[in-house]
Amino acid sequence: MFNWKEEYSVGVKAIDNQHKELFNLGNMIYNKIKSNNKDKMEDVKLIIKRLHEYTIYHFEYEESLMEKYNYRDYFQHQNSHKDFIDALDNMEDLDMLINQDKALVDMLNFVLEWITKHILKEDMQYKEFFLNKITG
Ligand SMILES: [Fe+2]
Repeated sequence: MFNWKEEYSVGVKAIDNQHKELFNLGNMIYNKIKSNNKDKMEDVKLIIKRLHEYTIYHFEYEESLMEKYNYRDYFQHQNSHKDFIDALDNMEDLDMLINQDKALVDMLNFVLEWITKHILKEDMQYKEFFLNKITG
């Protein structure tokens, strides 16, 4: 459902791999929601928690590279990350959504769409900057 595409590549392999993992976790959640397993919601909760934690880890990784190489839009980019983490924190009360597949899918769509737009707009802006600075 959420597929990483070559056009999402920011030229830094480690970051591309982290973006792929975010999509991968999104797909795992989506597939769980769609499954008929009656205990699925415990699994869904766990994977959402992982997605949340992995997003934090990924943002910190990106920001540490920006800081290291004095990226000009570091603070602006960091603010954008922070806003998204705040949105995720505010969504944490999953119990309200837990028996509503549609609400969960809507939430998941919001999360993955945000990530996709962020990659294509804001992350792309550091592509050229990191080129030749970071290999691999
Ligand atoms: Fe970013």
